[in-house]
Amino acid sequence: MEKILITGAAGFLGSRVVDFYRGNYEIYAPAHGELDITDAKAAVQVAGRFQPDIIIHCAAISDVGQCEREPEKSWDINVTGSINIAKAAKGISAACILCSSDQVYFGAGPARAHYGEEGLCPAHSHREEEELCPANVYGREKLKAEQECLEANPDCVLLRLSWMYDAKVRKPGEHGDLFRTLLPQIRDEGGISFPVHDRRGITDIAEVVKNLEKTFRLPGGVYNFGSPNQKDTYHTFQEVFSGAGIDVGRLQKNEEAFRTNPRNLAMSQEKINRHGIFFSSTIEGLSRNLSCALERGI
Ligand SMILES: NC(=O)c1ccc[n+]([C@@H]2O[C@H](COP(=O)([O-])OP(=O)(O)OC[C@H]3O[C@@H](n4cnc5c(N)ncnc54)[C@H](OP(=O)(O)O)[C@@H]3O)[C@@H](O)[C@H]2O)c1
Repeated sequence: MEKILITGAAGFLGSRVVDFYRGNYEIYAPAHGELDITDAKAAVQVAGRFQPDIIIHCAAISDVGQCEREPEKSWDINVTGSINIAKAAKGISAACILCSSDQVYFGAGPARAHYGEEGLCPAHSHREEEELCPANVYGREKLKAEQECLEANPDCVLLRLSWMYDAKVRKPGEHGDLFRTLLPQIRDEGGISFPVHDRRGITDIAEVVKNLEKTFRLPGGVYNFGSPNQKDTYHTFQEVFSGAGIDVGRLQKNEEAFRTNPRNLAMSQEKINRHGIFFSSTIEGLSRNLSCALERGI
């Protein structure tokens, strides 16, 4: 049985990776207290003791706001910690899968101030090889981590994840996600507002977890890894609500958010598709999960 070492295993993604792969792999998932990834020696020791075939690195400061407030601490964890893991993996020739983010594309053009009546955004979906200059601390940390990890260990696989949600499972103490916010809003029957000057992929975490296994043998490099989306966020939900039979009249356009600096984080899937990895579109995934949630009675 192959062995997997998972960092950040108490977190939103890491805990689901553990749940899904337990049984088919021998898993070691040290808690933060057992392995602090900012300690390079500890990373080498833990990896050396367990001798994993694969390391999946999910530990991070994943809160964009916290990175703005605590740039030194978050740099230590998101950049230095990731480099420590990449080096530890290299030392024992383990495959190394690291989590990056679509926020590396924040600030990269061309984003459009207006996506048209249907919300269709002709601006391109970002590709892995673009030159980037992220507009927030978290995005800069993730980009730097990608570059430094590949420098230290060219076999690293860096996955640019998009905004993830879990429509079914809620674990105590974990951070919020889209469904956690959306379902009570739908139940309350008030208005629900989404930005028009924003376009991004939104991905069912179950698809991310399931597709992870296909990344274990990928050649080193950076990969966009999430659901595509052609529409701005308001029009995305217009289609999702209409498919799920929810009154679209309750949807409101948020014209203010990102008005002066429109955001486009949407990612091209061409590279992962060439490697046989596919995700549902954002609208398909959200529609399927919302319909199920409504059937279960939210
Ligand atoms: N969630 C999303 O929608 C999303 C989107 C794009 C990319 N990502 C990326 O995907 C990865 C997983 O995200 P997530 O949402 O699962 O994050 P999360 O829920 O915030 O979990 C992060 C985990 O990292 C641990 N950790 C923090 N500092 C550590 C350290 N110094 N040493 C060891 N462990 C440490 C945390 O433990 P403590 O709580 O004990 O500190 C926590 O268990 C991250 O790289 C994130 O940036 C997430």
